[in-house]
Amino acid sequence: MICFRFAFKFMVAWGSDLGGPVTFSRRDFVKTSVLGAVAAGAHAAIPEALAESSQQGHASQSDSPKRPIILCAQNGYAYAEAAYAFLKSGGDTLDAGVRVVMGPENDPNDDSVGLGGLPNEEGVVELDACCMHGPTRRAGSVGGVRNIKNVSMVAKAVMEHTGHVMLVGEGAERFAVAMGFPRENLLTERSRKIWLLWKETHSDRDWWGPGMADPHWRPPVLDSKPQADLWQDRIRQLQQRAADLGIEPEFQLAAVRRVLFPPTGTIHCSVLNEKGEMSGITTTSGLAFKLPGRCGDSPIIGAGCYTDQDIGSAGATGAGEENIKVAGAHTIVENMRHGMSPQEAGLDALKRIVRNYNGDMSKLHFMDMTYYILRKDGAYAGVCLWEGSSAGNPHKFTVHDGTLRSENATPLLKGYSLEWPPMPNVPEDLKKDSYYLK
Ligand code: GLY
Repeated sequence: MICFRFAFKFMVAWGSDLGGPVTFSRRDFVKTSVLGAVAAGAHAAIPEALAESSQQGHASQSDSPKRPIILCAQNGYAYAEAAYAFLKSGGDTLDAGVRVVMGPENDPNDDSVGLGGLPNEEGVVELDACCMHGPTRRAGSVGGVRNIKNVSMVAKAVMEHTGHVMLVGEGAERFAVAMGFPRENLLTERSRKIWLLWKETHSDRDWWGPGMADPHWRPPVLDSKPQADLWQDRIRQLQQRAADLGIEPEFQLAAVRRVLFPPTGTIHCSVLNEKGEMSGITTTSGLAFKLPGRCGDSPIIGAGCYTDQDIGSAGATGAGEENIKVAGAHTIVENMRHGMSPQEAGLDALKRIVRNYNGDMSKLHFMDMTYYILRKDGAYAGVCLWEGSSAGNPHKFTVHDGTLRSENATPLLKGYSLEWPPMPNVPEDLKKDSYYLK
């Protein structure tokens, strides 16, 4: 209840096109929400699996917003304290965000970002990043960058040192070198061995050919006993092969997990300072074993990250292709502009993903998405499509508003995502997040 009361009390949006604050009454808001949902066709496709928490609109939404505040994906936790101190001392909001996301970029053990990121199908690490600086209303982005570790900083350099917004591939790499970023080998030995394990064992179930969005795609049969036995054998063989390749025993199951279910790890960070200035930044190595040149949502302004100094900031981790199709971060900020709370705004973007598949759970189960949402007054939310990857492993995000903490994201749908590509009876051990490399 407190959340709802708060949401309506502070339902103020500063419409830059209107030149000043626009307030929404509760009645206006309800009308706007319903009309918005009908226009998007969203509610028509929302299945029964809707999580109760999302209908109540509670959980993970701040009751008494504070500034300054840092909101980021869970792999930013270890870096939020130092970034917060920098912000408190008057540091710029984007520079604070860079301080968070450079942590995982520099960490060879985080294989979702920067150095040590899992490579593309040819064994080459390709990184994506974008940023928006609220106070100056500027943006920068790079996609498919090789050999440069801190692509978050390169995206910022595009913003500050060019008249462009986005550079990709070889041009982005050459620009980075011109700006003084060192070329270095981003493929750590462990990531190389995991890629080799994938290369040596991956089946015909890869990313070529029509995907789930194709009208002729059919879900595979998941529960045939003989197939399940085959998968158990395959996992055992993969683990043995991982040992043969010299992958350390404690990481072998993590390697098998990555080979069977290529991940899309990423980090996003949104920042608000005491003055009300905001910025957002997102960086990633993208989908593991992707086709060379594939860019996900992370370098796309409006999908992986969007900041409007008048309204708020949002970013995403998860299924990049799905997020691009709903322009997730921009949709969320626009939803807040029209009066939705951060949580409502994020859940609405997730409903659009559900709508894109007409609520077909046989497809939706194979994707997941988490949004990190920060409103200009300090209200925030983390929302996700599914509760997590398995029971006991909820999606979490990091908040620092004077107190550093992790919170559970609010799911739109009850239950857990399934890994893609599908396999029957995934062993519990393989579902555990503890098998991530960190
Ligand atoms: N969300 C990261 C990616 O899909 O590349």
